[in-house]
Amino acid sequence: MTFQTHPSAAPTTAAATPTPLPAPGHTAVGGEVLAPYPVVVGTGLHEQVGALLGEQVQRTALVHPPKLATAAHRIAGDLERHGRYVLPLVVPAGEGAKDAGVLVYLWSQLAEAGFTRFDAVVALGGGATADLAGFLAATWQGGIPLILAPSTTAAMTDAAVAGPVALNIPQGKNLAALTHRPAGVVCDLDLLATLPRADHVSGLAEVVKAGLLADPALLDLIEADPRAVSDPAGEHTRELIERTIRAKAALATAATENHAHAGADGPAGQEERHGQDGREFLGYGHLLAHAVEHAEGYRIRHGHALSIGMVYAAELAHQAGRLDAEHVQRHRTVLEALHLPTGYPRHAWERLRAAFAPHAAHRGRLRCAVLDAPGRPGLLCDPAPELLHAAYTRLAT
Ligand SMILES: NC(=O)c1ccc[n+]([C@@H]2O[C@H](COP(=O)([O-])OP(=O)(O)OC[C@H]3O[C@@H](n4cnc5c(N)ncnc54)[C@H](O)[C@@H]3O)[C@@H](O)[C@H]2O)c1
Repeated sequence: MTFQTHPSAAPTTAAATPTPLPAPGHTAVGGEVLAPYPVVVGTGLHEQVGALLGEQVQRTALVHPPKLATAAHRIAGDLERHGRYVLPLVVPAGEGAKDAGVLVYLWSQLAEAGFTRFDAVVALGGGATADLAGFLAATWQGGIPLILAPSTTAAMTDAAVAGPVALNIPQGKNLAALTHRPAGVVCDLDLLATLPRADHVSGLAEVVKAGLLADPALLDLIEADPRAVSDPAGEHTRELIERTIRAKAALATAATENHAHAGADGPAGQEERHGQDGREFLGYGHLLAHAVEHAEGYRIRHGHALSIGMVYAAELAHQAGRLDAEHVQRHRTVLEALHLPTGYPRHAWERLRAAFAPHAAHRGRLRCAVLDAPGRPGLLCDPAPELLHAAYTRLAT
């Protein structure tokens, strides 16, 4: 992955360079070495979509929810000025888009517009739009190029580290999934101007995660002025998003490179430190977060569930004797400064525990990402049931 900062996104704060950023480079994600792709962060970037599409692509399907209509017009106008045909495809907002019926509708639209395997898809919207449009690009005539133009803080901080694109089915969320590497990612910070503050703050849970896993300067930045960073139009947003993308990409690259030299499984109940699949480290906090989302019927914001899940992961590492109390408290301090939740009802434990297995079982064994210290992720294999419960009692309300 090549990481670019658009000239319009030059550092604006004195805190912009307190810690050297991890070097950009080729990224290997999920055990597969992926070809590099550009990630651009800045403002006024609608023209970058056309630039990343390349010369060959003539027809572009522009997938977006109704709320992004103005931004879609801007991107479409630029593409059309350069002689390209644009097919706007308005899809339902949020999770409603991640549906096989919507995908079939999009396939038929592409067919009627004569799309071939030489055309492309642009996803303008949050993570749900990215998932749907990613599925469309991956499945149209064997796969066509995909440009991601994320419009939420959560999607911008996730988009650069290629994950699976997924649809929901009645039996569960994200159960139909496949991998499709984007040809490029354009994070235009102007899009965040209309994002509700609560959605931005929820997205900041991803920033906290990157700070805990790899770049402590992110935590310093949040703690220095939580009110200011909670404003999506604030002066710190660019730095938070850019550093998060860099941290995640570097973590995925380093960890997956190490993976080639590491064993697959550690002994039960014991620790594994660096050298495992980076995707598992990036799943920090997700053991409990997924269970909370499941228990809430997916009506809770992902960032809120992740916030609770990261506190749980910290308490788990503490119970296992791996993370000291001071660092557990740091989790709470930074998350509570953003008014993100850090507790969950005591009576919910049995239900949450039952939801662990399908999400976290690795070859029949439970294992989850933990921290030994900020910036030092590792894995905990087959933690004892008493340990899992003891950690929960520390955050139970
Ligand atoms: N493909 C991936 O790599 C990936 C990664 C993480 C999460 N996801 C998925 O992403 C989804 C969550 O994504 P999300 O948190 O970005 O929310 P979302 O895509 O569900 O969008 C939430 C709401 O915000 C609106 N919205 C989006 N951008 C806006 C803007 N700039 N201004 C005003 N409103 C705007 C949307 O129309 C929608 O109503 C989940 O389904 C999750 O599974 C996908």
